[in-house]
Amino acid sequence: MNIKTSLMAATMLGFAAAAPANAVDLEVTHWWTSGGEAAAVAEIANAFNEQTEHSWVDGAIAGSGGTARPIVISRILGGDPMAATQFNHGRQAEELVEAGLMLDLTELAEAEGWRDIVHPVSLLDSCTVDGRVYCVPINIHSWQWIWLSHAAYEAAGVDVPSNWDEFVSAAPALEAADIIPLAMGQQPWQSNGAFGVIQIAIGGQDLWNSINIDKDADAARSEQMAAVFQAAANARALSARSTVQDWNQATALVINGQAGGQIMGDWAQGEFQVAGQTAGEDYSCLPGLGVNEVISTGGDAFYFPVIDDPDVREAQLELASLMLSREVQVAFNLKKGSLPVRGDVDLEAANDCMRKGLAILEAGNIMLSGDQVLDADTQTQLEDLFVEFWNDTSYSPEEAQERYAQIIEQAR
Ligand code: GAL
Repeated sequence: MNIKTSLMAATMLGFAAAAPANAVDLEVTHWWTSGGEAAAVAEIANAFNEQTEHSWVDGAIAGSGGTARPIVISRILGGDPMAATQFNHGRQAEELVEAGLMLDLTELAEAEGWRDIVHPVSLLDSCTVDGRVYCVPINIHSWQWIWLSHAAYEAAGVDVPSNWDEFVSAAPALEAADIIPLAMGQQPWQSNGAFGVIQIAIGGQDLWNSINIDKDADAARSEQMAAVFQAAANARALSARSTVQDWNQATALVINGQAGGQIMGDWAQGEFQVAGQTAGEDYSCLPGLGVNEVISTGGDAFYFPVIDDPDVREAQLELASLMLSREVQVAFNLKKGSLPVRGDVDLEAANDCMRKGLAILEAGNIMLSGDQVLDADTQTQLEDLFVEFWNDTSYSPEEAQERYAQIIEQAR
């Protein structure tokens, strides 16, 4: 063995001897692969690596939640679980929890007073099954936004819209300037999400609650909902030339001035940040399409599959605790474009759009997200309906509304 190899061997042994007995490589799966998402999740990974004796093994799954969740679920059910994984707030992991496959975090949650920390506490309720806590909420993402390119409207010679009606009225000028009025990707969750935003803006929260919480099919068949489906058909026409696939590619159309606007959750902010654009200068944001200013409490939580290894369990609990810490809450959410899940952090670096969201949140004008009130199967049926509706102009608003009502009739 030459000197170099022996030095390397000694070094490795030295490191090995110095590493605490319970240092763990923790595999964490998520679907954050866009520029903004990757910058945000790195804040958690770096904090975990720097503040614990463990190592974050990044298990990013490209695509979207609709791609990642089946992979995650099949691994857990197949006995090959990761140590931590992202789900959206709500009911996506409820069957895994009910099967006893997810770590009970209740003792940690009680020791750290999560019910006093998490705001709104409905986010923790979405982690709670039969009085036990099984996930740590990490952010609030609201779908209820449209993002508008100042460059696009300047090129078209019209003012940046301040509400949905003005957005629709300005569309012909954008078209005349060869600019796509509404950017839209082709994934089903994007079509379903955009429809939900239009539904709340045009139909109002009460109608949304009757349908999504009370599962009232008569409300789904109402005249008010007919107006929502007509508005969705109008939006479909405005996005006809948007042929990109992924949500962040559609956001890039707005960032580059090739499209006027995008209806998308506030994770889009991470993309504007990575592109070096400033809210209020390069782009504007209209909560509730400028019609019904509301924040829906969607977003993300992390669950920890049960793994029979006390060192892993200890590392899982350390990560759960770190995710809710003030430091990680600020660093992660500022990069992610989401709002923190605790009300006692100082977001002095928040931009204009985040401040709009925080003000709406503090005013209490919040509502649950679809993922929090509809089971995963119903959400998948709605995604299938709206991606078909959005991509087939022969699919009339009336036909789509009837199919919608049938899905709501069977929703659990
Ligand atoms: C959502 C998730 C966000 C965002 C988005 C696009 O489900 O809550 O964090 O990243 O997907 O990937």
